[in-house]
Amino acid sequence: MSETFIDVDVQATRPSGYGWRPLTLDDAGALADLLAACAPVDGETGPVMKTADVAVALARCGDLARNSLVAFDTDGRMAAACWLWPRPRLLVEYRLYVDGRVYPDHRGRGLGRYLLAWAEARGRELAVHEGGDRPLVLRIDFYDRSPDALRLFERCGFRFALAEDEMRRRLDDPIPPTSTRVALSFTTWASATAERFFALYDDAFRTRPGFPNWSKEAWVAAFTGGDAFRPDLSLLASVDGVDVGYALTHTEEVAGENAAWVVQMGVRPEWRRKGIAGALLASLMQRYLLADVSAVWLGVGADNPEAAKLYRRMGFETVRRRVEYGKA
Ligand SMILES: CC(C)(COP(=O)(O)OP(=O)(O)OC[C@H]1O[C@@H](n2cnc3c(N)ncnc32)[C@H](O)[C@@H]1OP(=O)(O)O)[C@@H](O)C(=O)NCCC(=O)NCCS
Repeated sequence: MSETFIDVDVQATRPSGYGWRPLTLDDAGALADLLAACAPVDGETGPVMKTADVAVALARCGDLARNSLVAFDTDGRMAAACWLWPRPRLLVEYRLYVDGRVYPDHRGRGLGRYLLAWAEARGRELAVHEGGDRPLVLRIDFYDRSPDALRLFERCGFRFALAEDEMRRRLDDPIPPTSTRVALSFTTWASATAERFFALYDDAFRTRPGFPNWSKEAWVAAFTGGDAFRPDLSLLASVDGVDVGYALTHTEEVAGENAAWVVQMGVRPEWRRKGIAGALLASLMQRYLLADVSAVWLGVGADNPEAAKLYRRMGFETVRRRVEYGKA
């Protein structure tokens, strides 16, 4: 394998005594073993990816020959691996996610530091070729990591970016009665209603910390551009012709279940605490049932306890906390 695939200008010393090459899809089983060996040491509480899930994760990296690097010990066993993939459909920045692990008995030898420095160097190179005029943003997202890993991220200049709790409810649990006294009518997403959805998003989220102030085009591309987006299960709620709230849905398979993700929901500030979000969720869940969905997921900011309270009242339970570290 040509060294030129891995040699970028890395600001760290490559540990000696290892063989290096990019990952291939044939490594999915060995990488799943690496993840399984690290999980108990890192205190991971979520489900550990199996070989098939790892293959799906690697497929989204695109060109693995450029976007991944793996170290083998002298016995030819995988000692550490790192892979990166772009978040699609982000018009405002070129965001690359980095993931990687070092086998517990190969830790403390500079492998993690080297791989993270390599990922950054590769990311900067990819940004030049593929980022256009968008600024590069590197992200690491995870459910649980050891304090050693967090220290490594910090030493390499990554900083805490966000934390959100992923909540889930099964659809066979009864849907709570709604408490709203306003008469809501619902409209599904269509290109003709996109402008109205965006206006609601902009109004509902403007006062949230970190509001990105995206244009309508950037917001539409990021949230409604992918195959998972369900226009038929994305609702705008109105009262007497006034738009008051909205919710967007993606569907996908999660751990063998047909799952719906409420990827975003909001109510105009002056219409809050009238039961509108509760009624919107209840209406969505009735539609999910008809669409053969068995579980509903959503992510709520760790700094948004009011929304979390509403979701708990609607029968959602926190499953895990997802954290992102970032570096521009
Ligand atoms: C989170 C959000 C969607 C909630 O919308 P909402 O329409 O105010 O939600 P609801 O009215 O259904 O519920 C909110 C509270 O009002 C109460 N309420 C419901 N009906 C009511 C009524 N008729 N009279 C008085 N209070 C009522 C609910 O019991 C609930 O109280 P609780 O939180 O103490 O349990 C809204 O605050 C928002 O858009 N926030 C900004 C964007 C955001 O954070 N989105 C969520 C991201 S995950």
